[in-house]
Amino acid sequence: MHWASVFGAIWLFHLSGARASPARTKMYGKVPLVLTDACMGVFGDVTWEYTSDALYASPVCTYEPALQSMLYCIFESVKEKGYSNKTFEKTFAAIKEDCSYYTDALQNMTNTDFYSALHNGTKHMMQYVEGNANLTYPIEMDAQTRENYYYSYHGFYANYDIGHTYGGVICAYFVGVMILAGIFHYMNYTPFKTALFKQRLVRYARGYLTLPTIWGKHASHFSSLKVLTGYLPTRFEGIIILGYLVLHTVFLAYGYQYDPYNLIFSSRREQVARYVADRSGVLAFAHFPLIALFAGRNNFLEFISGVKYTSFIMFHKWLGRMMFLDATIHGAAYTSYAVFYRDWQASKEETYWQFGVAALCLVGVMVFFL
Ligand SMILES: *[C@@H]1O[C@H](CO)[C@@H](O)[C@H](O)[C@H]1NC(C)=O
Ligand SMILES: *[C@@H]1O[C@H](CO)[C@@H](O)[C@H](O)[C@H]1NC(C)=O
Ligand SMILES: *[C@@H]1O[C@H](CO)[C@@H](O)[C@H](O)[C@H]1NC(C)=O
Ligand SMILES: *[C@@H]1O[C@H](CO)[C@@H](O)[C@H](O)[C@H]1NC(C)=O
Repeated sequence: MHWASVFGAIWLFHLSGARASPARTKMYGKVPLVLTDACMGVFGDVTWEYTSDALYASPVCTYEPALQSMLYCIFESVKEKGYSNKTFEKTFAAIKEDCSYYTDALQNMTNTDFYSALHNGTKHMMQYVEGNANLTYPIEMDAQTRENYYYSYHGFYANYDIGHTYGGVICAYFVGVMILAGIFHYMNYTPFKTALFKQRLVRYARGYLTLPTIWGKHASHFSSLKVLTGYLPTRFEGIIILGYLVLHTVFLAYGYQYDPYNLIFSSRREQVARYVADRSGVLAFAHFPLIALFAGRNNFLEFISGVKYTSFIMFHKWLGRMMFLDATIHGAAYTSYAVFYRDWQASKEETYWQFGVAALCLVGVMVFFL
């Protein structure tokens, strides 16, 4: 029953994440991708003579002057930032991938084709002036505008990446705890034991850390509060969990880079809603490996680390609670994003939305009742 719910929730989350936010674990903040999307953003906001019926189709994918303008924008930015032509060429693949959602027109272009589009475009290029519309020729955008868009996309993508990094740190934290516990455990079985560590230090540490619970009585049942099922943490568990909670809070709250010009999103509040939704969603995902690892009776981990089964269950429960919190924040922030700034009616019909709600309910049931 328990395992079935764990895997059920994982499965539902994957389905929901597949569309809600890009769930690929690749890094988004890589220079070629940010450059491409920033320049695509610049020329998506310019009024061309050409218009497309497709809702989100970018003119750079289907209108040659727009494509040439974008290539020049990327090329200039690459030079300014001191990157090589190799970085420039990597953006060709990113352009093809971005455009593949709207059209196949660019899919057969070679590097040479991209370079000749750039060179031809440069010949016909004009400086963009604020208010220009119905453009039929490639345009050159000033450096400050390009930089503003770059900053905006960088902040948006880096938020995903930093979420993955922070998730990795949480995993590394518990791995580190296991390794340290394992070292102490191992020393207990070696001649060191008699030499140094059997002395007061170990006795003190064990007496102080592993035996007493936080509130004194060992393993007293806390039956009145159903939320805190199981046993109270021992001091060892309490310290580990406290460290984890501090890390988790910092990771949820720290390192957001907002765009002062609101180039991607229409307001600061919309940015906050979306960024917090993304961060908490990525962090929620990052808990799965640990939750699964600590869920069952894991003889091997117990054997090498010397950490007791009951401690693993305690970690499992706290990780589950925080994952539920993350998922709830994710849902709330994304709902506010959709309700206030996007199409709420359409969003809640989407599969990812419905699976997300289902997963959240299932995780909630597990956290509060299992
Ligand atoms: C060169 O670019 C101009 C301006 O976008 C375009 O009208 C023309 O067709 C292009 N020429 C070639 C050979 O691609
Ligand atoms: C990079 O590409 C541009 C445009 O084709 C060319 O003018 C320049 O010489 C190249 N730079 C290097 C170092 O190859
Ligand atoms: C791209 O190349 C493939 C294989 O050569 C061909 O089948 C396809 O029609 C081409 N697509 C375009 C848009 O030219
Ligand atoms: C762009 O074209 C539209 C429709 O033809 C016209 O109403 C508008 O005045 C044009 N704008 C500029 C700045 O030329």
